[in-house]
Amino acid sequence: MGNPHFLTIPFPILGHMNPLMQFSQVLAKHGCKITFLTSDENYNKMKTTSINDGEGKLMEPHINLVSLPDGVNPQDDRKDLAKVILSTRITMSPMLPKLIEDINNLDSDNKISCIIVTKNMGWALEVAHQLGIKGALFWPASATSLVSFNSMERLVEEGIVDPQSGIPRKQEIQLSLNLPMMEAAAMPWYSLSNAFFFLHMMKEMQNVNLGEWWLCNTSMDLEAEAISLSPKFLPIGPLIGNEDNNIGSLWQEDETCLEWLDQHKPKSVIYVSFGSLISIGPNQFKELAIGLDLLKRPFLWVVRKDMAHMNNVLENEYLDELFKGNKGKIVSWSPQKKILCHPSIACFITHCGWNSTIESVCSGVPLLCWPFFSDQLMNKTYICDVWKVGLGFEKDENGLITKEEIKKKVDELLEDEEIKERSLKFMEMVVKNKSEGDKNLNKFINWAKE
Ligand code: UDX
Repeated sequence: MGNPHFLTIPFPILGHMNPLMQFSQVLAKHGCKITFLTSDENYNKMKTTSINDGEGKLMEPHINLVSLPDGVNPQDDRKDLAKVILSTRITMSPMLPKLIEDINNLDSDNKISCIIVTKNMGWALEVAHQLGIKGALFWPASATSLVSFNSMERLVEEGIVDPQSGIPRKQEIQLSLNLPMMEAAAMPWYSLSNAFFFLHMMKEMQNVNLGEWWLCNTSMDLEAEAISLSPKFLPIGPLIGNEDNNIGSLWQEDETCLEWLDQHKPKSVIYVSFGSLISIGPNQFKELAIGLDLLKRPFLWVVRKDMAHMNNVLENEYLDELFKGNKGKIVSWSPQKKILCHPSIACFITHCGWNSTIESVCSGVPLLCWPFFSDQLMNKTYICDVWKVGLGFEKDENGLITKEEIKKKVDELLEDEEIKERSLKFMEMVVKNKSEGDKNLNKFINWAKE
């Protein structure tokens, strides 16, 4: 039996595309054939990047790119996740069987043997099931967050969660005996609590359970208890070592920040990034800018251009007014994995997205947690209370993280030798888990070959 052919299908947002592309590259390096399916819009963006050969094929490792329309109109707001979830399912799902047939006709010796999807694309596992093709889930977040979604039905039955809205009726929830007790607000479905998301996720979990494996970029030292809760979990992390090859990225990385970092002392620079989705409002933006200025330490701050109010905010006069010193560098998108490995980075102010969390942990960089929604509050619990490699910001009575709070917490973290030492020890431990992750990866590839 030859090497398997995987059809990988991410939900068409960057926070899902990047990690699945990274995983696709890992599979391709193991000799697997990969067809990466995305929306027409993302396909066109990927085709025009320099890492492409112009014919829809990404450069090394070799990955076939294909696309289908996702039904989202150009004038629609792609940040409206409910719209994208619905539209993707309704538009793509009837077209998928024909696409698979066409791909298989083109390569009849190496037909698609397994479909891998991310969250919100569970419908494709249903299609795989109907066509008799193997299926697996690649979950772009923590195993614990998947456990929380998989527990929703039980929590409803036990009366802990409202069956209509998904809103918890308790202040704290413990998903299982060995998992940490968490504020109900830290449940990933809490911040998305409305009838649409709740019902969507209930249905999604039925499809997710059609997948034979739940592949997660995690490891036993990160989340042993959660992983032990289902035999479907296959921890294949930490997925590290691809720092030089971020070919899935849709946005141009500003490499000048690496030279800028070279000019700074070891462990002196504060790195600030809120991932690919979060936008902060003008008041909070200003507060953060002044807080960074007050710190009088060098900082590297990612301010994405797609944040609605950024066009005028990033004009020089505005920034000159905010920054009295000249200590920082602002970029619109950074080569984050390389940044976090750079010796001059002291700490990371983060929204606690799972990928950022893993990248920081695997670089031994302590974190300052600023979670917004979804799994990010749960990740904060792990960072601050379980692994103890970071501190969290507190909001004031208006829901603002003030400049004083920012200065206070960053100073506190940078003076905390215990956290810094623990971050380095934790990094050593987690990085060693990679060999177990590789074994699980081989197990998965062999299963797909059978
Ligand atoms: C989304 C959700 O928001 C998050 O809660 C969930 O855990 C994963 O899916 P996102 O917000 O984009 O993800 O955050 P994160 O998971 O941290 O992923 C961001 C990725 O973009 C990371 O791999 C990071 O290295 C990369 N990145 C970020 C860059 O390459 N450059 C940047 O400037 C910023």
